Amino acid sequence: MDNILGGRRMRRNRRTSWSRRLVRENHLSVDDLIWPVFIVSGTGVREPVPSMPGVERVSIDEAVRDTERAQALGIPALALFPNTDPDLRDPHGSEALNENNLICSACRAIKQEGFDVGLITDVALDPYTSHGHDGLMEGDAILNDETVVQLANQAVLQAQSGADVIAPSDMMDGRVAGIRKALDENGFRDQQIMAYSAKYASAFYGPFRDAVGTNATLVGDKRTYQMDPPNTDEAIRETELDLEEGADMIMVKPGMPYLDIIRRLKDAFAAPTYAYQVSGEYAMIMAAGQNGWIDKDRAMMESLISFKRAGADGILTYFAPKVAEILKRGV
Ligand code: PBG
Repeated sequence: MDNILGGRRMRRNRRTSWSRRLVRENHLSVDDLIWPVFIVSGTGVREPVPSMPGVERVSIDEAVRDTERAQALGIPALALFPNTDPDLRDPHGSEALNENNLICSACRAIKQEGFDVGLITDVALDPYTSHGHDGLMEGDAILNDETVVQLANQAVLQAQSGADVIAPSDMMDGRVAGIRKALDENGFRDQQIMAYSAKYASAFYGPFRDAVGTNATLVGDKRTYQMDPPNTDEAIRETELDLEEGADMIMVKPGMPYLDIIRRLKDAFAAPTYAYQVSGEYAMIMAAGQNGWIDKDRAMMESLISFKRAGADGILTYFAPKVAEILKRGV
């Protein structure tokens, strides 16, 4: 039979496992993983988050054990988020400025052990405010500049407690500049800033808000500060500002629905770029897997490699410990 393909056969390289490995363009490694961990008060607490099967809120002593596990697995960094006692939440998010709050205490406890694991702390007021917003409010309005002052103070306290990377997730204008200045003035020149640069007002944060208790508190929505999902040029402008203001690393959030944004930002700025595979993305894969509708481990690995393909240098993912174990076993 005549060869109508003229010798062009894409399938040749895919025929065998060794050849597929040889032509593989992107790889996921443990060095790409950041493990988000939820902290609660108490000791010996490991409390499941119902909307995130396999994820637990842990007390500080357990977070120390998780960090030890991260080190053993080779995971480079943890991202810490608090579930603040409802009694400690007020309209001003005062607990964010308590040097003995869950996050500061967790940083001190973990750092005392001397692990070679980076600690990334979230800067925003939502886990501390009674209205569940990331900023201070006057009536229905979120006050930008007043919030930035408080975020800068929050960041300094976290740095004092041992945080290595300050990660503002609040989406106030000018917060990276405010935080950088405050860190520098207080002698924390070496603390990095990972900016949630393109953070969209997304439905995919639902399970996270269960985990930190803000579904119960949030009044209204976050559309006046988080980005509008249809926009893409705006992500460039947000990120350009964050980098000018001193961000060392940038982040896109959520992850899979915004792969186009990751690619655009990586191409435009060539900066260290991270994806946050958020709680709702995790929950979807776990729920479909538990129903037997998809192979959850394969879906997990495929979702993670999509971030590498899009140009991400790393991924915040609740799958981190599980994936690290799979990578370590080499299967
Ligand atoms: C809050 C914050 C959110 C997440 C990280 N930091 C939620 C929100 O903006 O309401 C979401 C993470 C996730 O869904 O996994 N500043």
